[in-house]
Amino acid sequence: MTTIISGTEFSANLRKEIKHKVALLKKQHDIIPGLAVVLVGEDPASQIYVRNKGIQTKEAGMNSYEHKLPDDTSEEALLKLIDQLNSDSSVHGILVQLPLPKHIDEHAVINSIAVEKDVDGFHLSNIGLLAIGSNQGVVPCTPLGSMMMLKDHLGDLSGKKAIVVGRSNIVGKPMAALLLKESCTVTIAHSRTKNLADECRQADIIVAAVGQPEMIKGDWIKAGATIIDVGINRIEKADGGTKLVGDVEFSSASKVAGAITPVPGGVGPMTIACLLHNALQQACRINNVDIPE
Ligand code: GUN
Repeated sequence: MTTIISGTEFSANLRKEIKHKVALLKKQHDIIPGLAVVLVGEDPASQIYVRNKGIQTKEAGMNSYEHKLPDDTSEEALLKLIDQLNSDSSVHGILVQLPLPKHIDEHAVINSIAVEKDVDGFHLSNIGLLAIGSNQGVVPCTPLGSMMMLKDHLGDLSGKKAIVVGRSNIVGKPMAALLLKESCTVTIAHSRTKNLADECRQADIIVAAVGQPEMIKGDWIKAGATIIDVGINRIEKADGGTKLVGDVEFSSASKVAGAITPVPGGVGPMTIACLLHNALQQACRINNVDIPE
């Protein structure tokens, strides 16, 4: 029997837990976590993400601050806003929605965010802390959510063979670092990897984050393996409509895998829940208090 790991269910429980802790933080320390989201331009997908982040932030009892800037905003003006948010004591987390317009240097912007307010975990210092296996940094939201589901399903990951397909800075690389921290034997595969199917067949855990619709097939998967599908791809159906699919072919993979996350309803809903988790964690760290239990 294949287990379907529901991110919808897992993230709802996580958000409920966070809401409870946010209420305790207010009661015990009079602190309300504040999350600022900055959106430059009018990218439709980004607008939807930002709206959902705002709704879920408020639902968790946190303060949400949205800064929507026009597409032609200068890098200087954006850096000035981040500077203001860095100095604002009611803001504990700052997220700049990516991608940014081409005329803005993404790295300069991300690294201008105060490390302790970098709730995305994209600042070089947070990347470095993750790379050395420290618990003191901020872990990027999608890999963090993927790891929560993996550990919930498998328990101890020590000694397991894991393959991460995809080497992006947002998912693949931090995911590999997290798996290594859990003492997995980790392979990072990418577009130049030879015999990818054979590499996948050896793995106890496959994390698919390549952005290629249904690339990983059932016959690439070892019987009983755990599959985390990070891909969210919109494809055309035969009737002309569209649907969302992952990087894994669910119909064939779910016959072989021991457990698999569906798309939609798998990793996707975990990302914002983990953003709220990071915002709460950083509000507590900045104020030097424990996360309430
Ligand atoms: N764009 C797509 N995913 C993300 C994310 O996790 N964080 C930010 N800041 N932008 C994104």
